[in-house]
Amino acid sequence: MTVESIATAAYLVAALLFILSLAGLSKHESARTGWLYGVIGMTIAIAATVALALNKSEVAGTATVILLVTALIGAAIGLYKAKVVQMTGMPELIALLHSFVGLAAVLVGWASYLEVERGWIPGEAAHYTGALLKIHHAEVFIGVFIGAVTFTGSIVAYLKLSAKMKSAPLVLPGKNYINIGALVLFAVFTVWFVVDQQLWLLIAVTVIALLLGWHLVASIGGGDMPVVVSMLNSYSGWAAAAAGFLLSNDLLIVTGALVGSSGAYLSYIMCKAMNRSFISVIAGGFGIEAAPTEDQDYGEHTETNADSVAELLKNAKTVVITPGYGMAVAQAQYGVAELTRELRKRGVNVRFGIHPVAGRLPGHMNVLLAEAKVPYDIVLEMDEINDDFADTDVVLVIGANDTVNPAAAEDPTSPIAGMPVLTVWEAENVIVFKRSMASGYAGVQNPLFFRTNSAMLFGDAKDRVQDILAAIN
Ligand code: TAP
Repeated sequence: MTVESIATAAYLVAALLFILSLAGLSKHESARTGWLYGVIGMTIAIAATVALALNKSEVAGTATVILLVTALIGAAIGLYKAKVVQMTGMPELIALLHSFVGLAAVLVGWASYLEVERGWIPGEAAHYTGALLKIHHAEVFIGVFIGAVTFTGSIVAYLKLSAKMKSAPLVLPGKNYINIGALVLFAVFTVWFVVDQQLWLLIAVTVIALLLGWHLVASIGGGDMPVVVSMLNSYSGWAAAAAGFLLSNDLLIVTGALVGSSGAYLSYIMCKAMNRSFISVIAGGFGIEAAPTEDQDYGEHTETNADSVAELLKNAKTVVITPGYGMAVAQAQYGVAELTRELRKRGVNVRFGIHPVAGRLPGHMNVLLAEAKVPYDIVLEMDEINDDFADTDVVLVIGANDTVNPAAAEDPTSPIAGMPVLTVWEAENVIVFKRSMASGYAGVQNPLFFRTNSAMLFGDAKDRVQDILAAIN
Protein backbone atom coordinates (compact mmCIF):
# COMPACT_ATOMS: atom_id res chain seq x y z
CA MET A 1 0.00 0.00 0.00
CA THR A 2 1.34 3.44 -0.94
CA VAL A 3 1.12 6.62 1.13
CA GLU A 4 -1.18 8.02 -1.62
CA SER A 5 -3.71 5.20 -1.33
CA ILE A 6 -3.77 5.37 2.49
CA ALA A 7 -4.25 9.17 2.29
CA THR A 8 -7.11 8.75 -0.22
CA ALA A 9 -8.85 6.30 2.12
CA ALA A 10 -8.29 8.68 5.06
CA TYR A 11 -9.78 11.56 3.02
CA LEU A 12 -12.88 9.49 2.33
CA VAL A 13 -13.34 8.74 6.03
CA ALA A 14 -12.77 12.43 6.92
CA ALA A 15 -15.32 13.57 4.30
CA LEU A 16 -17.93 11.18 5.75
CA LEU A 17 -17.18 12.43 9.27
CA PHE A 18 -17.68 16.05 8.09
CA ILE A 19 -21.08 15.16 6.65
CA LEU A 20 -22.05 13.42 9.93
CA SER A 21 -20.75 16.47 11.80
CA LEU A 22 -22.99 18.86 9.84
CA ALA A 23 -25.98 16.57 10.41
CA GLY A 24 -25.22 16.43 14.17
CA LEU A 25 -24.75 20.18 14.52
CA SER A 26 -28.21 20.86 13.09
CA LYS A 27 -29.93 19.74 16.34
CA HIS A 28 -29.44 20.72 20.01
CA GLU A 29 -29.35 17.15 21.30
CA SER A 30 -26.79 15.87 18.78
CA ALA A 31 -24.62 19.02 18.56
CA ARG A 32 -21.86 17.69 20.84
CA THR A 33 -21.54 14.44 18.89
CA GLY A 34 -21.55 16.43 15.66
CA TRP A 35 -18.72 18.60 16.98
CA LEU A 36 -16.73 15.46 17.95
CA TYR A 37 -17.13 13.97 14.44
CA GLY A 38 -15.78 17.25 13.04
CA VAL A 39 -12.73 17.22 15.33
CA ILE A 40 -11.90 13.59 14.50
CA GLY A 41 -12.43 14.22 10.77
CA MET A 42 -10.16 17.28 10.81
CA THR A 43 -7.42 15.43 12.74
CA ILE A 44 -7.47 12.60 10.17
CA ALA A 45 -7.49 15.13 7.31
CA ILE A 46 -4.50 17.09 8.64
CA ALA A 47 -2.49 13.92 9.37
CA ALA A 48 -3.14 12.54 5.87
CA THR A 49 -2.29 15.85 4.17
CA VAL A 50 0.98 16.22 6.11
CA ALA A 51 1.95 12.62 5.28
CA LEU A 52 1.20 13.23 1.57
CA ALA A 53 3.17 16.50 1.51
CA LEU A 54 6.21 14.96 3.20
CA ASN A 55 6.07 11.94 0.92
CA LYS A 56 6.21 14.21 -2.16
CA SER A 57 8.79 16.66 -0.79
CA GLU A 58 12.40 16.39 -1.85
CA VAL A 59 13.41 18.23 1.31
CA ALA A 60 11.31 16.22 3.78
CA GLY A 61 13.39 17.18 6.84
CA THR A 62 13.09 20.95 6.34
CA ALA A 63 9.43 20.62 5.30
CA THR A 64 8.62 18.69 8.50
CA VAL A 65 10.20 21.39 10.67
CA ILE A 66 8.39 24.22 8.84
CA LEU A 67 5.04 22.36 8.97
CA LEU A 68 5.35 21.47 12.66
CA VAL A 69 6.46 24.93 13.78
CA THR A 70 3.74 26.79 11.81
CA ALA A 71 1.06 24.29 12.87
CA LEU A 72 2.06 24.63 16.53
CA ILE A 73 2.02 28.45 16.39
CA GLY A 74 -1.40 28.40 14.66
CA ALA A 75 -2.82 25.85 17.09
CA ALA A 76 -1.56 27.82 20.12
CA ILE A 77 -3.14 31.07 18.86
CA GLY A 78 -6.40 29.25 18.03
CA LEU A 79 -6.55 27.55 21.43
CA TYR A 80 -5.88 30.82 23.27
CA LYS A 81 -8.53 32.71 21.25
CA ALA A 82 -11.12 29.97 21.78
CA LYS A 83 -10.47 30.03 25.54
CA VAL A 84 -10.72 33.80 26.02
CA VAL A 85 -13.51 34.64 23.56
CA GLN A 86 -16.76 35.77 25.16
CA MET A 87 -20.02 34.34 23.83
CA THR A 88 -20.91 37.85 22.62
CA GLY A 89 -17.62 38.04 20.69
CA MET A 90 -18.15 34.78 18.71
CA PRO A 91 -19.61 36.29 15.49
CA GLU A 92 -16.66 38.66 15.03
CA LEU A 93 -14.18 35.84 15.69
CA ILE A 94 -15.98 33.71 13.08
CA ALA A 95 -15.85 36.62 10.60
CA LEU A 96 -12.10 36.96 11.24
CA LEU A 97 -11.58 33.22 10.68
CA HIS A 98 -13.48 33.46 7.36
CA SER A 99 -11.07 36.20 6.32
CA PHE A 100 -8.13 33.79 6.85
CA VAL A 101 -9.76 31.25 4.50
CA GLY A 102 -10.17 33.99 1.87
CA LEU A 103 -6.56 35.13 2.26
CA ALA A 104 -5.32 31.52 2.04
CA ALA A 105 -7.24 31.04 -1.24
CA VAL A 106 -5.66 34.22 -2.68
CA LEU A 107 -2.16 33.07 -1.67
CA VAL A 108 -2.72 29.54 -3.04
CA GLY A 109 -3.94 31.05 -6.33
CA TRP A 110 -0.93 33.34 -6.66
CA ALA A 111 1.51 30.56 -5.66
CA SER A 112 -0.01 28.22 -8.23
CA TYR A 113 0.24 30.93 -10.92
CA LEU A 114 3.92 31.51 -10.12
CA GLU A 115 4.65 27.76 -10.08
CA VAL A 116 2.84 26.81 -13.28
CA GLU A 117 2.23 29.84 -15.51
CA ARG A 118 5.52 31.61 -14.63
CA GLY A 119 7.53 28.38 -14.29
CA TRP A 120 8.98 29.16 -10.84
CA ILE A 121 9.02 25.45 -10.05
CA PRO A 122 10.78 23.78 -12.99
CA GLY A 123 8.80 20.95 -14.52
CA GLU A 124 5.54 21.84 -12.75
CA ALA A 125 3.97 23.21 -15.94
CA ALA A 126 4.64 19.85 -17.63
CA HIS A 127 1.76 18.35 -15.59
CA TYR A 128 -0.61 20.68 -17.40
CA THR A 129 -0.99 20.39 -21.13
CA GLY A 130 -3.61 21.53 -23.65
CA ALA A 131 -7.08 21.97 -22.18
CA LEU A 132 -5.81 21.09 -18.68
CA LEU A 133 -3.52 24.13 -18.72
CA LYS A 134 -6.40 26.38 -19.78
CA ILE A 135 -8.52 24.98 -16.93
CA HIS A 136 -5.65 25.78 -14.57
CA HIS A 137 -5.60 29.42 -15.77
CA ALA A 138 -9.34 29.69 -15.03
CA GLU A 139 -8.96 27.99 -11.61
CA VAL A 140 -6.24 30.46 -10.58
CA PHE A 141 -8.28 33.45 -11.67
CA ILE A 142 -11.59 32.34 -10.12
CA GLY A 143 -9.89 31.15 -6.90
CA VAL A 144 -8.10 34.48 -6.41
CA PHE A 145 -11.35 36.39 -7.08
CA ILE A 146 -13.52 34.41 -4.61
CA GLY A 147 -10.73 34.45 -2.01
CA ALA A 148 -10.17 38.21 -2.23
CA VAL A 149 -13.92 39.01 -2.00
CA THR A 150 -14.16 36.73 1.06
CA PHE A 151 -11.05 38.28 2.63
CA THR A 152 -12.06 41.96 2.61
CA GLY A 153 -15.78 41.19 3.04
CA SER A 154 -15.00 39.23 6.21
CA ILE A 155 -12.73 41.98 7.52
CA VAL A 156 -15.55 44.54 7.13
CA ALA A 157 -17.94 42.10 8.84
CA TYR A 158 -15.44 41.73 11.69
CA LEU A 159 -15.09 45.52 12.02
CA LYS A 160 -18.88 46.03 11.98
CA LEU A 161 -19.61 43.21 14.44
CA SER A 162 -16.96 44.40 16.88
CA ALA A 163 -18.30 48.00 16.63
CA LYS A 164 -14.97 49.23 15.23
CA MET A 165 -16.90 50.44 12.18
CA LYS A 166 -20.44 51.94 11.97
CA SER A 167 -23.07 49.26 11.33
CA ALA A 168 -25.19 51.60 9.12
CA PRO A 169 -25.04 50.71 5.40
CA LEU A 170 -22.61 52.59 3.16
CA VAL A 171 -24.66 54.07 0.30
CA LEU A 172 -22.33 55.17 -2.52
CA PRO A 173 -24.02 56.79 -5.53
CA GLY A 174 -24.76 54.12 -8.15
CA LYS A 175 -23.59 51.36 -5.80
CA ASN A 176 -25.41 48.65 -7.80
CA TYR A 177 -23.61 49.71 -10.98
CA ILE A 178 -20.27 49.53 -9.12
CA ASN A 179 -21.01 45.90 -8.14
CA ILE A 180 -22.33 44.89 -11.58
CA GLY A 181 -19.38 46.67 -13.26
CA ALA A 182 -16.91 44.71 -11.09
CA LEU A 183 -18.62 41.40 -11.99
CA VAL A 184 -18.62 42.21 -15.72
CA LEU A 185 -14.90 43.13 -15.56
CA PHE A 186 -14.21 39.85 -13.74
CA ALA A 187 -16.01 37.83 -16.45
CA VAL A 188 -14.19 39.64 -19.30
CA PHE A 189 -10.79 39.39 -17.57
CA THR A 190 -11.29 35.66 -16.86
CA VAL A 191 -11.78 34.90 -20.56
CA TRP A 192 -8.81 37.15 -21.42
CA PHE A 193 -6.60 35.42 -18.85
CA VAL A 194 -7.47 31.95 -20.15
CA VAL A 195 -6.29 33.08 -23.60
CA ASP A 196 -3.31 35.18 -22.51
CA GLN A 197 -1.85 34.96 -18.95
CA GLN A 198 -0.76 38.55 -18.48
CA LEU A 199 0.45 39.32 -14.96
CA TRP A 200 -1.40 42.64 -14.90
CA LEU A 201 -4.73 40.80 -15.35
CA LEU A 202 -4.15 38.79 -12.17
CA ILE A 203 -3.10 41.92 -10.27
CA ALA A 204 -6.19 43.75 -11.60
CA VAL A 205 -8.64 40.99 -10.58
CA THR A 206 -7.06 40.78 -7.12
CA VAL A 207 -7.52 44.55 -6.58
CA ILE A 208 -11.06 44.56 -8.05
CA ALA A 209 -12.12 41.61 -5.86
CA LEU A 210 -10.60 43.16 -2.70
CA LEU A 211 -12.55 46.39 -3.33
CA LEU A 212 -15.74 44.51 -4.27
CA GLY A 213 -15.65 42.42 -1.06
CA TRP A 214 -15.22 45.57 1.01
CA HIS A 215 -18.02 47.39 -0.82
CA LEU A 216 -20.50 44.46 -0.76
CA VAL A 217 -20.41 44.07 3.02
CA ALA A 218 -20.02 47.78 3.84
CA SER A 219 -23.28 48.37 1.88
CA ILE A 220 -25.29 46.06 4.14
CA GLY A 221 -27.00 47.46 7.25
CA GLY A 222 -26.59 46.12 10.79
CA GLY A 223 -30.00 44.39 10.82
CA ASP A 224 -28.90 42.15 7.93
CA MET A 225 -25.51 41.22 9.41
CA PRO A 226 -26.61 37.70 10.54
CA VAL A 227 -27.29 36.85 6.90
CA VAL A 228 -23.97 38.41 5.85
CA VAL A 229 -22.02 36.24 8.31
CA SER A 230 -23.60 33.03 6.99
CA MET A 231 -23.11 34.29 3.41
CA LEU A 232 -19.39 34.88 4.08
CA ASN A 233 -19.29 31.41 5.59
CA SER A 234 -20.57 30.14 2.24
CA TYR A 235 -18.04 32.24 0.26
CA SER A 236 -15.20 30.92 2.44
CA GLY A 237 -16.33 27.39 1.54
CA TRP A 238 -16.22 28.13 -2.19
CA ALA A 239 -12.81 29.80 -1.73
CA ALA A 240 -11.53 26.64 -0.01
CA ALA A 241 -12.98 24.48 -2.81
CA ALA A 242 -11.19 26.67 -5.39
CA ALA A 243 -7.93 26.22 -3.45
CA GLY A 244 -8.63 22.45 -3.41
CA PHE A 245 -8.71 22.39 -7.24
CA LEU A 246 -5.39 24.26 -7.42
CA LEU A 247 -3.73 21.99 -4.86
CA SER A 248 -5.36 18.89 -6.40
CA ASN A 249 -6.67 18.08 -2.95
CA ASP A 250 -9.97 16.18 -3.18
CA LEU A 251 -10.86 16.57 0.49
CA LEU A 252 -10.49 20.34 0.33
CA ILE A 253 -12.85 20.39 -2.68
CA VAL A 254 -15.43 18.23 -0.87
CA THR A 255 -15.13 20.16 2.43
CA GLY A 256 -15.26 23.53 0.65
CA ALA A 257 -18.36 22.48 -1.27
CA LEU A 258 -20.02 21.26 1.98
CA VAL A 259 -19.32 24.58 3.74
CA GLY A 260 -20.25 26.58 0.63
CA SER A 261 -23.60 24.90 0.05
CA SER A 262 -24.63 24.63 3.73
CA GLY A 263 -23.70 28.32 4.27
CA ALA A 264 -25.72 29.33 1.20
CA TYR A 265 -28.72 27.33 2.45
CA LEU A 266 -28.45 28.86 5.94
CA SER A 267 -28.36 32.36 4.36
CA TYR A 268 -31.48 31.48 2.37
CA ILE A 269 -33.33 30.23 5.49
CA MET A 270 -32.32 33.36 7.42
CA CYS A 271 -33.46 35.64 4.59
CA LYS A 272 -36.84 33.89 4.56
CA ALA A 273 -37.17 34.17 8.37
CA MET A 274 -36.28 37.88 8.23
CA ASN A 275 -38.36 38.64 5.14
CA ARG A 276 -35.33 39.74 3.15
CA SER A 277 -34.54 39.17 -0.52
CA PHE A 278 -31.71 36.61 -0.75
CA ILE A 279 -30.44 38.13 -4.01
CA SER A 280 -30.50 41.65 -2.55
CA VAL A 281 -28.43 40.63 0.47
CA ILE A 282 -25.80 38.60 -1.44
CA ALA A 283 -25.55 41.45 -3.96
CA GLY A 284 -24.64 43.96 -1.23
CA GLY A 285 -28.12 45.36 -0.60
CA PHE A 286 -29.07 45.41 -4.30
CA GLY A 287 -32.11 47.60 -4.90
CA ILE A 288 -31.78 49.41 -1.56
CA GLU A 289 -30.71 52.90 -2.54
CA ALA A 290 -32.05 54.88 0.43
CA ALA A 291 -29.73 56.09 3.16
CA PRO A 292 -30.89 55.46 6.77
CA THR A 293 -33.64 57.89 7.78
CA GLU A 294 -32.88 60.81 10.07
CA ASP A 295 -33.82 60.53 13.75
CA GLN A 296 -37.47 61.49 14.29
CA ASP A 297 -38.97 63.27 17.25
CA TYR A 298 -41.24 60.70 18.93
CA GLY A 299 -41.93 62.87 21.99
CA GLU A 300 -41.06 62.13 25.64
CA HIS A 301 -40.30 58.74 27.17
CA THR A 302 -41.44 57.64 30.63
CA GLU A 303 -39.00 56.39 33.25
CA THR A 304 -39.78 53.84 35.94
CA ASN A 305 -37.94 52.21 38.88
CA ALA A 306 -37.44 48.70 40.26
CA ASP A 307 -40.05 49.08 43.05
CA SER A 308 -42.81 50.08 40.60
CA VAL A 309 -41.90 47.21 38.26
CA ALA A 310 -41.93 44.75 41.20
CA GLU A 311 -45.43 45.96 42.13
CA LEU A 312 -46.61 45.63 38.53
CA LEU A 313 -45.25 42.07 38.32
CA LYS A 314 -46.82 40.98 41.62
CA ASN A 315 -50.24 42.03 40.31
CA ALA A 316 -49.79 40.54 36.84
CA LYS A 317 -51.32 37.26 35.64
CA THR A 318 -49.34 36.93 32.41
CA VAL A 319 -45.76 38.07 31.84
CA VAL A 320 -43.63 37.66 28.70
CA ILE A 321 -39.87 38.25 28.79
CA THR A 322 -38.17 39.15 25.50
CA PRO A 323 -34.39 39.04 25.95
CA GLY A 324 -31.85 40.51 23.55
CA TYR A 325 -28.16 41.21 23.17
CA GLY A 326 -28.11 43.42 26.33
CA MET A 327 -29.05 40.40 28.49
CA ALA A 328 -25.93 38.63 27.18
CA VAL A 329 -23.75 41.70 27.79
CA ALA A 330 -25.04 42.10 31.35
CA GLN A 331 -24.95 38.30 31.97
CA ALA A 332 -28.41 38.83 33.45
CA GLN A 333 -29.75 35.37 32.51
CA TYR A 334 -29.28 33.90 36.04
CA GLY A 335 -31.19 36.77 37.67
CA VAL A 336 -33.85 36.53 34.98
CA ALA A 337 -34.20 32.78 35.66
CA GLU A 338 -34.53 33.46 39.41
CA LEU A 339 -37.14 36.16 38.78
CA THR A 340 -39.04 33.70 36.57
CA ARG A 341 -39.02 31.03 39.33
CA GLU A 342 -40.16 33.59 41.92
CA LEU A 343 -43.06 34.83 39.79
CA ARG A 344 -44.14 31.31 38.81
CA LYS A 345 -44.17 30.38 42.52
CA ARG A 346 -46.64 33.23 42.98
CA GLY A 347 -48.88 31.85 40.22
CA VAL A 348 -47.87 34.26 37.44
CA ASN A 349 -47.78 32.72 33.96
CA VAL A 350 -44.26 33.63 32.76
CA ARG A 351 -43.07 32.81 29.23
CA PHE A 352 -40.20 33.91 26.99
CA GLY A 353 -40.43 35.21 23.42
CA ILE A 354 -37.28 34.62 21.36
CA HIS A 355 -36.59 36.45 18.11
CA PRO A 356 -34.61 34.36 15.55
CA VAL A 357 -31.76 36.93 15.42
CA ALA A 358 -31.83 38.20 19.03
CA GLY A 359 -28.28 38.62 20.34
CA ARG A 360 -25.37 38.03 18.03
CA LEU A 361 -25.58 34.31 17.18
CA PRO A 362 -28.34 32.01 15.98
CA GLY A 363 -29.80 30.49 19.17
CA HIS A 364 -27.82 32.91 21.41
CA MET A 365 -30.71 33.56 23.82
CA ASN A 366 -31.76 29.89 23.95
CA VAL A 367 -28.23 28.91 24.99
CA LEU A 368 -28.10 31.55 27.76
CA LEU A 369 -31.54 30.63 29.13
CA ALA A 370 -30.74 26.90 29.04
CA GLU A 371 -27.49 27.66 30.90
CA ALA A 372 -29.54 29.40 33.62
CA LYS A 373 -31.94 26.38 33.75
CA VAL A 374 -35.05 28.11 32.42
CA PRO A 375 -37.44 25.26 31.43
CA TYR A 376 -37.55 24.69 27.62
CA ASP A 377 -41.35 24.55 27.51
CA ILE A 378 -41.79 28.21 28.50
CA VAL A 379 -39.27 29.45 25.92
CA LEU A 380 -41.24 30.15 22.73
CA GLU A 381 -40.27 31.20 19.22
CA MET A 382 -41.42 34.57 17.85
CA ASP A 383 -44.17 33.01 15.70
CA GLU A 384 -45.49 31.06 18.70
CA ILE A 385 -45.76 34.09 21.01
CA ASN A 386 -46.64 37.02 18.75
CA ASP A 387 -50.42 36.38 18.83
CA ASP A 388 -50.39 36.36 22.66
CA PHE A 389 -48.96 39.84 23.35
CA ALA A 390 -52.40 41.48 23.14
CA ASP A 391 -53.48 39.35 26.17
CA THR A 392 -50.29 39.93 28.16
CA ASP A 393 -50.21 42.13 31.29
CA VAL A 394 -46.49 42.89 31.38
CA VAL A 395 -43.68 42.46 28.86
CA LEU A 396 -40.10 42.74 30.15
CA VAL A 397 -37.82 43.72 27.27
CA ILE A 398 -34.40 42.80 28.67
CA GLY A 399 -31.62 44.33 26.57
CA ALA A 400 -33.50 43.85 23.28
CA ASN A 401 -33.94 46.68 20.80
CA ASP A 402 -34.05 45.99 17.03
CA THR A 403 -36.00 42.78 17.58
CA VAL A 404 -38.87 44.68 19.29
CA ASN A 405 -38.83 47.78 17.07
CA PRO A 406 -42.34 48.66 15.77
CA ALA A 407 -40.77 50.72 12.95
CA ALA A 408 -40.00 47.40 11.19
CA ALA A 409 -43.73 46.71 10.97
CA GLU A 410 -45.09 50.24 10.64
CA ASP A 411 -42.57 52.48 8.85
CA PRO A 412 -41.91 51.44 5.23
CA THR A 413 -39.00 53.93 5.00
CA SER A 414 -37.15 52.33 7.94
CA PRO A 415 -33.92 50.45 7.09
CA ILE A 416 -35.36 47.45 8.95
CA ALA A 417 -38.81 47.70 7.29
CA GLY A 418 -40.34 44.29 6.66
CA MET A 419 -38.17 42.44 9.20
CA PRO A 420 -40.52 40.41 11.43
CA VAL A 421 -40.33 41.60 15.06
CA LEU A 422 -41.82 40.66 18.44
CA THR A 423 -45.01 42.76 18.68
CA VAL A 424 -44.44 43.60 22.37
CA TRP A 425 -46.17 47.00 22.09
CA GLU A 426 -49.57 45.19 21.93
CA ALA A 427 -49.24 44.23 25.63
CA GLU A 428 -50.79 46.31 28.42
CA ASN A 429 -47.44 47.35 29.93
CA VAL A 430 -43.95 47.20 28.44
CA ILE A 431 -40.85 47.67 30.61
CA VAL A 432 -37.63 48.26 28.67
CA PHE A 433 -34.38 47.40 30.47
CA LYS A 434 -31.40 49.28 28.99
CA ARG A 435 -28.73 51.76 30.01
CA SER A 436 -29.63 54.71 27.78
CA MET A 437 -31.84 55.79 24.89
CA ALA A 438 -29.20 54.57 22.40
CA SER A 439 -30.32 52.71 19.27
CA GLY A 440 -29.81 48.97 18.70
CA TYR A 441 -27.36 47.14 16.43
CA ALA A 442 -29.04 48.34 13.20
CA GLY A 443 -28.55 51.96 14.31
CA VAL A 444 -32.29 52.66 14.01
CA GLN A 445 -34.30 54.70 16.54
CA ASN A 446 -36.96 52.72 18.41
CA PRO A 447 -40.43 54.35 18.71
CA LEU A 448 -41.41 51.64 21.26
CA PHE A 449 -39.59 53.63 23.98
CA PHE A 450 -41.96 56.59 23.51
CA ARG A 451 -45.27 54.69 23.54
CA THR A 452 -47.70 55.53 26.34
CA ASN A 453 -47.75 51.89 27.57
CA SER A 454 -43.90 51.72 27.66
CA ALA A 455 -41.59 52.69 30.53
CA MET A 456 -37.79 52.71 30.59
CA LEU A 457 -35.91 51.02 33.44
CA PHE A 458 -32.41 52.40 33.02
CA GLY A 459 -29.20 50.73 34.19
CA ASP A 460 -27.35 47.46 33.77
CA ALA A 461 -29.93 44.71 33.21
CA LYS A 462 -28.37 42.36 35.79
CA ASP A 463 -28.44 45.03 38.54
CA ARG A 464 -32.02 46.07 37.75
CA VAL A 465 -33.26 42.46 37.81
CA GLN A 466 -31.60 41.99 41.22
CA ASP A 467 -33.28 45.20 42.46
CA ILE A 468 -36.69 43.89 41.33
CA LEU A 469 -36.05 40.54 43.02
CA ALA A 470 -35.12 42.34 46.27
CA ALA A 471 -38.27 44.48 46.05
CA ILE A 472 -40.52 41.46 45.41
CA ASN A 473 -39.09 39.52 48.34
P1 TAP B 1 -29.75 45.07 19.83
O1 TAP B 1 -30.61 45.68 18.80
O2 TAP B 1 -28.35 44.79 19.52
O3 TAP B 1 -29.85 45.99 21.14
C1 TAP B 1 -29.31 45.58 22.35
C2 TAP B 1 -29.62 46.63 23.39
O4 TAP B 1 -29.10 46.15 24.63
C3 TAP B 1 -28.96 47.95 23.12
O5 TAP B 1 -29.91 48.90 22.66
C4 TAP B 1 -28.31 48.34 24.46
O6 TAP B 1 -28.81 49.61 24.87
C5 TAP B 1 -28.78 47.26 25.42
N1 TAP B 1 -27.73 46.86 26.37
C6 TAP B 1 -26.44 46.63 26.11
N2 TAP B 1 -25.78 46.32 27.23
C7 TAP B 1 -26.69 46.32 28.22
C8 TAP B 1 -26.63 46.07 29.62
N3 TAP B 1 -25.48 45.74 30.23
N4 TAP B 1 -27.76 46.18 30.34
C9 TAP B 1 -28.92 46.54 29.74
N5 TAP B 1 -29.04 46.78 28.43
C10 TAP B 1 -27.94 46.67 27.68
O7 TAP B 1 -30.35 43.69 20.36
P2 TAP B 1 -31.39 42.64 19.80
O8 TAP B 1 -32.78 43.16 19.93
O9 TAP B 1 -31.02 41.35 20.44
O10 TAP B 1 -31.12 42.57 18.23
C11 TAP B 1 -30.01 41.90 17.69
C12 TAP B 1 -29.42 42.72 16.56
O11 TAP B 1 -28.13 42.18 16.21
C13 TAP B 1 -30.26 42.68 15.30
O12 TAP B 1 -30.15 43.87 14.58
C14 TAP B 1 -29.62 41.53 14.51
O13 TAP B 1 -29.86 41.60 13.13
C15 TAP B 1 -28.15 41.80 14.82
N6 TAP B 1 -27.29 40.61 14.69
C16 TAP B 1 -27.76 39.40 15.08
C17 TAP B 1 -27.00 38.27 14.89
C18 TAP B 1 -27.61 36.95 15.24
S1 TAP B 1 -27.37 35.69 14.30
N7 TAP B 1 -28.38 36.84 16.29
C19 TAP B 1 -25.68 38.37 14.38
C20 TAP B 1 -25.18 39.64 14.05
C21 TAP B 1 -26.01 40.76 14.22
P3 TAP B 1 -27.93 50.56 25.85
O14 TAP B 1 -26.61 50.72 25.19
O15 TAP B 1 -28.72 51.80 25.95
O16 TAP B 1 -27.84 49.81 27.14
